[in-house]
Amino acid sequence: MKIVVLNEGSSDSRVSASPETVKKITEMNHDVFVQKGAGVESNFTDNEYEENGAYIFEDKDVIREADVIFKVNKPSADEIEVFKQNSILIGALDPFNNSDLIEDLKKKKVISFAMELMPRITRAQSMDILSSQSNLAGYKAVINASKLFGKAFPMMMTAAGTIAPAKVMVFGAGVAGLQAIATAKRLGAIVSATDVRLAAKEQVESLGGKFIMVESDELKDAETSGGYAKEMSKEFKIKQAELITQTLSSQDIIICTALIPGKKAPILISEDQIKSMKPGSIIIDLASESGGNCECSIAGEIININGVLVSGSKNITSEIAQDASALFAKNLFNFFKILIDDDTNEINIDWEDEIIIGTALTKNGEIIHEGFIK
Ligand code: NAI
Repeated sequence: MKIVVLNEGSSDSRVSASPETVKKITEMNHDVFVQKGAGVESNFTDNEYEENGAYIFEDKDVIREADVIFKVNKPSADEIEVFKQNSILIGALDPFNNSDLIEDLKKKKVISFAMELMPRITRAQSMDILSSQSNLAGYKAVINASKLFGKAFPMMMTAAGTIAPAKVMVFGAGVAGLQAIATAKRLGAIVSATDVRLAAKEQVESLGGKFIMVESDELKDAETSGGYAKEMSKEFKIKQAELITQTLSSQDIIICTALIPGKKAPILISEDQIKSMKPGSIIIDLASESGGNCECSIAGEIININGVLVSGSKNITSEIAQDASALFAKNLFNFFKILIDDDTNEINIDWEDEIIIGTALTKNGEIIHEGFIK
């Protein structure tokens, strides 16, 4: 089979296959074609791919022949135009925001899998791009905050005086939030966090963070069966806003990671609340591409509100591309393996498999994911 790894272009520094995963796929007797320069921003050279068995290509005709296409982000309409019928596309296709893309894939009769729809089950952990990328995002958010922050993180006692430790608060204690807590702790900060899922309390505390939570009966029912947060009621939001107002003025750094799958991110910090913070404080809003936890954050920009810097993150994992690509590539490879029959080495998809049902978007010219069937 021909496996094609497309170049993401200037919008993303990551790549969907690493020399390591290319080697594993070629060992399965498949041909891997990597588009020229696809890994450069992740420090994977064309030579390294070739040394691991890949062919480097520039001619778009190679894409026409592809049986399986690997992508980090959704392909362009021009790319989809050349995909052959029944080719398999695997990547982060962002289906909630791209109904046109789903239509294009349907028309071209592409079998597409949106990796961000991966069910949160133990067997799928090694294929979960949201976890692997969120973990790095949480780490990088704290590192970026430390660059913008004009002070140190740890307490320092020197002959010239004592420096107080930085106070970091994390909104949302999922994968990104927990890594942000761990990173800020490692740097010596005093860390607190809030979430609507009661299960997060123990996890935050196990990392040495203080858990701050609204008292409400609604919390007993704040989590879906899949482990995700639900959207909270108006009454809850008012109580949460009061708690945030009380807490913000004493914090130096806020890391926002709160998300609700398929919905706009909950707004947790208003412009007035930012004005109550000390000048020099930093907000990193990882949720800004989903609307932001911070009312005024703008994805890809740093704005100054009364001396508080609000950084709206845009594709933060692209800033740590080498590790992000290596993990993304492993997630895709692990998923690719379940599409292949061990004996024949050919595609043999088990359409009853929970992982396949959870991620498959289009097949045979139809939308087959129940979340997107109109
Ligand atoms: P996410 O990225 O969807 O959201 C981030 C966090 O924001 C979540 O903890 C959520 O509860 C919180 N949040 C949402 N609304 C909020 C609000 N109004 N105020 C404060 N916090 C709010 O979450 P992520 O990282 O995807 O994790 C979701 C769940 O999935 C967790 O239970 C996690 O343990 C689980 N998980 C399971 C995996 C598996 O079994 N394969 C893999 C990764 C995560």
